[in-house]
Amino acid sequence: MSLRTTTDYVEDVSPGSGALPPRARYASSDARSLSLNGSWRFRLSDTADAEDDSFAQEGYEAGGWAEVPVPGHWVLQGHGSPVYTNHLYPFPVDPPRVPTENPTGDHLRVFDLPKDWPADGGAVLRFDGVESCARIWLNGTELGEFKGSRLPHEFAVGHLLKTVDNVLAVRVHQWSAGSYLEDQDQWWLPGIFRDVTLLHRPAGGVLDFFVHASYDHLAGTGTLRVDSDVDGRVTVPELGIDVATGEPVTVPAEPWSAERPRLYEGVLATEGERVALRIGFRTVELSDGLIKVNGRAVLFKGVNRHEWHPERGRALDLETMREDVLLMKRHNINAVRTSHYPPHPAFLDLCDEYGLWVIDECDLETHGFTEQGWRDNPVDDDRWTPALLDRAARMVERDKNHPSIVIWSLGNEAGTGRGLTAMAEWMRGRDSSRLVHYEGDLDCRDTDVYSRMYADHAEVERIGRGLDGGTHKRRELPFLLCEYGHAMGNGPGGLADYQRIFETYDRLQGGFIWEWIDHGIKDERYGYAYGGDFGEELHDGNFVCDGLLFPDRRPSPGLVEYKKVIEPVAVEGDGTGGTVRITNKYDFADLSALAFTWSYQVNGETVGEGTLPVPALTAGESAEVKLPEPPVATAAGEAHWTVRALLAADTPWAPKDHVVAWGQFAVSARQVPSVAATDGPVPGNGLITLGPASFDARTGALRTVGGVDVTGLRLDVWRAVTDNDDGAAWQTDIRYGLLWRGLGLHRMRHRLDAVELGDDALTVRTRVAPAAREIGLSTVYRWTSDGNRLQLTVSVDPEDDWTVPLPRLGIRFGLSAADRVQWFGGGPGEAYPDSRAASSVGRWQSTVDDLQTPYVRPQENGARADVRWAEIGGLRIEGDPEFFFTARRWTTEQLDAAEHRTDLTPGDTVWVNLDHGQHGLGSQSCGPGPLPQYHLRAEAAQFSFVFSEIS
Ligand code: GAL
Repeated sequence: MSLRTTTDYVEDVSPGSGALPPRARYASSDARSLSLNGSWRFRLSDTADAEDDSFAQEGYEAGGWAEVPVPGHWVLQGHGSPVYTNHLYPFPVDPPRVPTENPTGDHLRVFDLPKDWPADGGAVLRFDGVESCARIWLNGTELGEFKGSRLPHEFAVGHLLKTVDNVLAVRVHQWSAGSYLEDQDQWWLPGIFRDVTLLHRPAGGVLDFFVHASYDHLAGTGTLRVDSDVDGRVTVPELGIDVATGEPVTVPAEPWSAERPRLYEGVLATEGERVALRIGFRTVELSDGLIKVNGRAVLFKGVNRHEWHPERGRALDLETMREDVLLMKRHNINAVRTSHYPPHPAFLDLCDEYGLWVIDECDLETHGFTEQGWRDNPVDDDRWTPALLDRAARMVERDKNHPSIVIWSLGNEAGTGRGLTAMAEWMRGRDSSRLVHYEGDLDCRDTDVYSRMYADHAEVERIGRGLDGGTHKRRELPFLLCEYGHAMGNGPGGLADYQRIFETYDRLQGGFIWEWIDHGIKDERYGYAYGGDFGEELHDGNFVCDGLLFPDRRPSPGLVEYKKVIEPVAVEGDGTGGTVRITNKYDFADLSALAFTWSYQVNGETVGEGTLPVPALTAGESAEVKLPEPPVATAAGEAHWTVRALLAADTPWAPKDHVVAWGQFAVSARQVPSVAATDGPVPGNGLITLGPASFDARTGALRTVGGVDVTGLRLDVWRAVTDNDDGAAWQTDIRYGLLWRGLGLHRMRHRLDAVELGDDALTVRTRVAPAAREIGLSTVYRWTSDGNRLQLTVSVDPEDDWTVPLPRLGIRFGLSAADRVQWFGGGPGEAYPDSRAASSVGRWQSTVDDLQTPYVRPQENGARADVRWAEIGGLRIEGDPEFFFTARRWTTEQLDAAEHRTDLTPGDTVWVNLDHGQHGLGSQSCGPGPLPQYHLRAEAAQFSFVFSEIS
């Protein structure tokens, strides 16, 4: 063997050498296999050529090496550190060259064959994912080298295997020419991060095969044809199918859909092997300008999913993948774009099984070339085309037998070029049964669907109406928003508004939220680390934490909102007619899997409930359903009907009674609190008393309400800016977070103008304004009392030229002791003006700590909307009108200054905000800001609160 120390292959644009042609993946076979996952010997070098390859030889003594678990990323296993950049390459752009400093991990594993490993036949060694370039040896013989991190590579090894002491050596380079093709917005995480498996290949065993299973929705039949490189028979006992490979057969069958993922178990048997098939009959087509499956247009309610685990990075175990699928199904999500690479193959098995439409995306992104006007972009340079085609083939060949995959995606943010066209042509030639997607192709030259990311509502609506122009071809195509609703930090806002537009225009076939999960790395120092926390010289901070799930997979309020916005059943009523309108918004399923309940609440307390018979409406159908007589007279208080659609029976993804959809509507209006101003303010020794309250005589500041001490009550307009308030650097629209801070809204001063003692009111006049500016808010606090209760009416008048909305408008104050909270209003979770669909009116309880939403980078959070009254720290507070309620153990200023959760330490005071208004959230951290109707305009406002001590 050669003692080659050359590392030319690292910087070679070719995909590699020595690997077998790509082929179909199957979940199980009767051929033997041996997992080589587990503990491997590991040595890290600083450069690609620091060590020669003698470690690959038999007998090498690696006793002094470290050990790492495979699959894994060495930078998460105590060797080096991760690097996060969005689109910037963390190395000089000089393709295909990479830095001399190129962390290189040598991996060694010695294994014996199981005793009963067959002596005949061959064997294949399979790597499911190695980032970014690997060179492989078995028993001292070099097998080859490859790039294409999230794609499988197989090597024939039968002739090299021994029964004992096989030495498998893998050299992995962090950087390679392939890195130029893998510039996805995520952590750079080198390592053998997916499974390594030895597969026995019996003589006459299965090679590649292609399951063609179409569905004729008019005839109700499925047609199956399994093309196989090795002839054999295909059996599907449930359908009575027993045919030769290559031979089509048509039988009555049930179709596969994400809503009803009907799979038939089958077997492909060749002379030497039996491989399990899971067949789903479905036909994907472009017809009438729409993406149709089994004859019906589909509305995608999707998410973009990166693979992520807060400790293991992209090395996911099956249970984590299943958790993702279950969480998606339970939140009404029906589609996944595998941004931006083919996932672990087991994830696709789960999508087939549980039912999710999949856009399978190739492992390709060259976004960093945008920095040089796309000069030298590999996708427009023929030298790279073999690597691109290799990537396309490795994805399509591996994944082609999954019914869940309806669209192939060429990659993400790679500009445009001949290489992409070549990929699209190859894919179409190989698989005409699916559509081709690529967002960067604005003219749709290579694609079957017009796709965009982060287009604002108005533009999406124009596209829906066909007024967006573009090439003739594009105008004929359906539209997908492959990324929208940037879920970074608190947000996204505006989802319900998008959904309304999607549902209005047929051409709009839905979208995919960016993104599924925050890529925070569990870290003792910070709770969760993000970009910059590992001393990276270039990084993009917490832009890597922009998911609907927190890193530990707890759903964020954004996911709860999304679930509500995309629910498959609409429940609407106006509370007056004694009926509720139920609409089936599924694309295929009728409502027979759901059971409906009604409940009736008076002042937030449920006073009656029962089941509601609803016909099994077919997809798209609506009905007016009669409600029962209200269980109590409506005069008893503010009353609501709540109607829920629940799973009628256990499903594989959620138990019976899981809530799929709900609607709530008011029957009678709320009675706003009123306090007769019978008491007057009484001056005393440094204090003024009014009813149950005392005030500082000099400043007019509230001191106590009964026995409850209150500190610092005053107008508040500042919130700890959210990632979406801050917006992204490239945004051309106004970024209010910056503007607010520039104006000084975070350092408002309160000038006291007058403390006036009237007959029936204490009036405190102030002007609230920031240094260096003319703008200000004339603010008057008017206090009245009936002897028991204390009413505050706040009047705010903007002075001078306010051109910006306010972050919030309300009062804040401190309580010295508070823990439990209860309220009547929106809940149970947080809600903001443009993200409040999931908030339902009721009686809710929590603790101050549980009111907090733990965004990875701390920011405004936790407001409960539409609160009629709240009780906290011995006080009851009623609002006129309803208000946003927030309470936390730190100040807004501390929250604003915190970079990580661990920066927040509880103080002695609980700070309560009662807000008349909040500015919307939007999703300007990458998309549009809040729609104008959700701006909190600086205009004259009056609002009041009634305080009383809870006896
Ligand atoms: C898109 C990109 C994603 C991600 C997102 C922002 O442009 O496709 O990978 O970077 O923006 O979070």
